[in-house]
Amino acid sequence: MCGIIGKIGVGNVVPDLINGLKQLEYRGYDSSGIAIINNGEILRERAVGRIKELEKEINKTNPEGVVGIGHTRWATHGAPSERNAHPHLSSNGKFALVHNGIIENADEIKNQVLSQDVVFFSDTDSEAAVQLIEMNYKGDVIEAVSSACKEIKGSYAFGILCTDFPHMIFAAAKGSPLVVAEGEKGNYITSDLCAVNDEISCIYRLKDGEICSVQKGKIDFFDSEGQLLAKKSEKSELDKQDVTKGDYEHFMIKEIMQQSEAVEKTVDSFVIKNKIQFSDVCFQEDFLKKQLKNIVIVACGSAYHAGLAGKSIIEALCKIPCNVDIASEFRYSEAFISKESLAIFISQSGETADTLAALRLAKSRGAKTLSIVNVKGSAIAEESENVIYTKAGREIAVATTKAYSAQLAALYALGIFIAKKIGKMTASQEKFYVEEMKKLPEKISQTLEKTNEDVKKLAKEIYRSPDVFFIGRLSDYATAAEGSLKMKEISYINSQVYAAGELKHGTISLVNDGTPVIAVAAQKDIFTKTLSNMAEVAARGANVVVITDEKTKNRVTDGYRIISVSDTVKEFKGSLLVLPLQLLSYYTAKLRGCDIDKPKNLAKSVTVE
Ligand code: F6R
Repeated sequence: MCGIIGKIGVGNVVPDLINGLKQLEYRGYDSSGIAIINNGEILRERAVGRIKELEKEINKTNPEGVVGIGHTRWATHGAPSERNAHPHLSSNGKFALVHNGIIENADEIKNQVLSQDVVFFSDTDSEAAVQLIEMNYKGDVIEAVSSACKEIKGSYAFGILCTDFPHMIFAAAKGSPLVVAEGEKGNYITSDLCAVNDEISCIYRLKDGEICSVQKGKIDFFDSEGQLLAKKSEKSELDKQDVTKGDYEHFMIKEIMQQSEAVEKTVDSFVIKNKIQFSDVCFQEDFLKKQLKNIVIVACGSAYHAGLAGKSIIEALCKIPCNVDIASEFRYSEAFISKESLAIFISQSGETADTLAALRLAKSRGAKTLSIVNVKGSAIAEESENVIYTKAGREIAVATTKAYSAQLAALYALGIFIAKKIGKMTASQEKFYVEEMKKLPEKISQTLEKTNEDVKKLAKEIYRSPDVFFIGRLSDYATAAEGSLKMKEISYINSQVYAAGELKHGTISLVNDGTPVIAVAAQKDIFTKTLSNMAEVAARGANVVVITDEKTKNRVTDGYRIISVSDTVKEFKGSLLVLPLQLLSYYTAKLRGCDIDKPKNLAKSVTVE
């Protein structure tokens, strides 16, 4: 949440800051701004809305400078407005600061700073930091930043300019990502390397409490006390991925269509000779066989839904109890985990603040930790003992699709892997599942193709509905929950998900004539149960649509509309059933004229709790 870019180069850095911000827009898009140093003075431009609004402002004044910082904001404290947009300036105009994170004791700091007759210009927590730095400044920026950071509670990645050092950028981080990169055309600070359009020779990730000063030919690192630090560089693994929409109208539909590839690459990364082998997972045999008593899966949003699907497969194959928790709840709960627990954290971005905090809690309780992450080198991946990387590639649409599918594949593999290790699965069963898993990419393509037109028609029918309900049981519930989340987040239709048997305990009173009820029902054993729940809502006038598979569709009675996906083994069905639901949310949002790739109030990476 919130993206930071800073560059010190030879020529004018403004175009690079703007291009970088465009790449970072996925982290927030309420407002944006840049600050550069020109003739010893800070020049600043800010605008509400997307980066293109900022660009318009910049085109009016054409500011130039060889050192600058930029920011794209997802509002936490203070409405999205120009005065709350970053960079923030200190009272005397000496410092400009961009911030990602949350300063929890901002009010306390403000009161302290206010007693020094300092004027505040915004309602943000971030401004407290720049004023505090100014208050601590006696000629040494590192010292001032170090003193300020000691007082700040919460999380931050800061990019800072100071007019006394017009050829330097300063940065500090704690709990929010910040990468320093050495490039051919300059040096950079950024929240995400994708913002840097340059040949990068090496990078440094700031660890909690670290501070740095970046000059054109020199980068110095300091610990939280301001003492010089020897820091090892890493090789940049930024692969220049295709970040264009190609022939597609939106990134979301492109990414939906890329799911076959995302799953194929993910599966290929851990299937070796029809066996599951993970390169970054190293459990002691004894832990899985003798110690492991329970599994918890912790995640947020869609990753949580992937976790729900993961629970079904893990419990079915491994016969080990598996609970799934929302990270923001888990981190403040009793969290019954111990040395005999395996705690699994799922995150596309690898930087979701609540998931990261939950991981730290699990570690402190001695649980074995494993994360399923799409972004290499991200905080969750780095802090987990074991990692399974999904290979979905960069996901740009805010609503996740291909990363979700890749997470499901990783969870299937993990279920098979554990079941095999603890003796609940034979080698031939493993081979069977692996072969089925390898067929998924082809079936994903088939399903997308064969359901596309039916889903488009359905979207035309439902796009004006004020409400939509999704129902399902067990793993179908997980799929329904994901379908419902997709619908509400991009089409803004009030969409609810319910376990199919739960409707009649209250919610059914909301079902009216024509209310769309999307029922996910593809499990043989409980199919008739969900069918009864469909009949209950149909009797109240609902427009029931059944999402099922080829094998099960003949069991659908009562003339409901059916959308059927390809067949696969029951454990993997969620991978196919979710596809028409993703398409449905996409086409519905499109008919409603929504901003599909950047839905209102959301950001791709949620680094605040
Ligand atoms: C929904 C969506 C979000 C994320 C959630 C977790 O389409 O994208 O619900 O799934 O914010 O994000 P990660 O997976 O990055 O931890």
